[in-house]
Amino acid sequence: LTLHVPRDSAALAVGADAVAEALRAQALAHGLEARVIRNGSRGLLWLETLVEVTTPQGRVAYGPVAPQDVPGLWPALVAEAGGQDGSHPLRQGVTEQIPYLALQERLTFRRVGLTDPLSLADYEAHEGWAGLKAALAMAPPDILHEVTHSGLRGRGGAAFPAGIKWKTVAGAASERKYVVCNADEGDSGTFADRMVMEGDPFMLIEGMAIAALAVGAERGYVYVRSEYPHAVATLAEAIAQATAAGWIGERIGGTDRSFHLEVRMGAGSYVCGEETAMLESLEGRRGIVRAKPPLPALQGLFGQPTVINNVLTFAAVPLILARGGAFYRHFGVGRSHGTLPFQLAGNIRRGGLVEKAFGLTLRELLHGFGGGTASGRPIKAVQVGGPLGAYVPESQWDVPLDYEAYAAIGAVVGHGGLVVHDDTADLAGLARYAMEFCALESCGKCTPCRIGSTRGVEVIDRIGAARHQPQVREQQVLLLRDLCDTMLGGSLCAMGGMTPYPVLSALNHYPADFGLAPAEAA
Ligand code: NAI
Ligand code: SF4
Repeated sequence: LTLHVPRDSAALAVGADAVAEALRAQALAHGLEARVIRNGSRGLLWLETLVEVTTPQGRVAYGPVAPQDVPGLWPALVAEAGGQDGSHPLRQGVTEQIPYLALQERLTFRRVGLTDPLSLADYEAHEGWAGLKAALAMAPPDILHEVTHSGLRGRGGAAFPAGIKWKTVAGAASERKYVVCNADEGDSGTFADRMVMEGDPFMLIEGMAIAALAVGAERGYVYVRSEYPHAVATLAEAIAQATAAGWIGERIGGTDRSFHLEVRMGAGSYVCGEETAMLESLEGRRGIVRAKPPLPALQGLFGQPTVINNVLTFAAVPLILARGGAFYRHFGVGRSHGTLPFQLAGNIRRGGLVEKAFGLTLRELLHGFGGGTASGRPIKAVQVGGPLGAYVPESQWDVPLDYEAYAAIGAVVGHGGLVVHDDTADLAGLARYAMEFCALESCGKCTPCRIGSTRGVEVIDRIGAARHQPQVREQQVLLLRDLCDTMLGGSLCAMGGMTPYPVLSALNHYPADFGLAPAEAA
């Protein structure tokens, strides 16, 4: 009997360890030999803990399973393993045929949930190291060509072309270069980086090793937020295994190249996800943003040329090298090539991870995949792209999700996080929260962000207090717009520079929440 129980934090949070223990106890009590494999999560988070049993038709899923469900579930699991339909209210059918999964285009997440994250044999059996093997046989300019040709853009949110960034580092004259992975996934409602690190860590290691070969770096760091202890532990174990197997470390893949990789932990600051603040933190200083230029690609970690990419960017690279840039480029629309793992969170019935090619719409994600709100009430607003992303109203849910189309409506795709709110949400309160968040997390280096965010909270409060004073209201709305303008144009980094996105989108699309008639908000 082969059973699968996720070891991903999302499953652990709802008792996956206790479920795995209860399954082992049942096997013992019934004198049956059972293997309980701890795989990553399939990303169907509303069904966690998702228990799968291997059957002649493939893996069959049951969920959400609580530890106390296990004794009642046991006969169904045994019947299913023997090829019979283990009818049970929690039965979800053949996992791969669950529409939420079957309708996805999983490239980066193709192994996540399927394999044992810390089994090198499992990784290798599922196309693991194929990209690195290809890269080891190529000259660095050819690796750079494949990555550039794939059209891969930075998945952390800024969408800068990865190939161009790598070329800048490769072309910089220096004895020492670095590869740094930004795993400080601080955006609200996002969890794709964590799922990669916990569910398929070798893929990230492979992507970083390929980057190192391409640019001529011999040392790399993964900067992981301290809130992700399971990701840190899984990654550390995977790095040890990959080093012992010769995929990283000295003389990788039997060549004369070496690449040493280490994990570093953050300490809870949101702004340390900004690349230069992250470098400060990695170098042992307080996470304060550095002015750019110089670009980290030319003077990054310890002043040396450094490739900095997000987890999802590096994770996309092995497949690009294994199957070619043209294969990856073929997915997506316009200048947004490939796929993005969208993360459905907040007030949503079926929250989880949906990897699709760029070009689908928010409506498809919210209703097709997400099934509407968890509360059953109408959706009012969706914040796309983290706490600094815009609130997108229903009139814009048919805009294709691609970087340029979203920029054209004053929104961002960002890291692909979606936080859903139903019609009880108060958008003025959420706009105030955006300013408050900025005030709390500001590194304090520049005035528009440090002072502007605090003034922003005050102005939004004054608009709320002036419900019966139209003149004061008008004056304060003008002031808020002016302040947002200053923050947008005058901030040193995205923290202050993007806080106006949620604020202005709330004001523009939901004026009534501020006590304003549409004309007053304009
Ligand atoms: P940016 O546009 O300044 O830079 C993007 C990247 O391209 C950087 O790595 C930069 O060094 C590099 N770059 C720019 N010009 C280059 C050149 N000519 N050659 C080589 N490299 C070059 O954006 P930034 O400030 O790095 O990121 C802002 C984004 O971060 C926002 O769009 C937001 O969506 C996202 N974000 C993501 C979070 C997350 O948890 N994933 C959290 C907060 C913000
Ligand atoms: Fe620091 Fe805010 Fe200025 Fe960024 S915008 S450098 S976080 S003060």
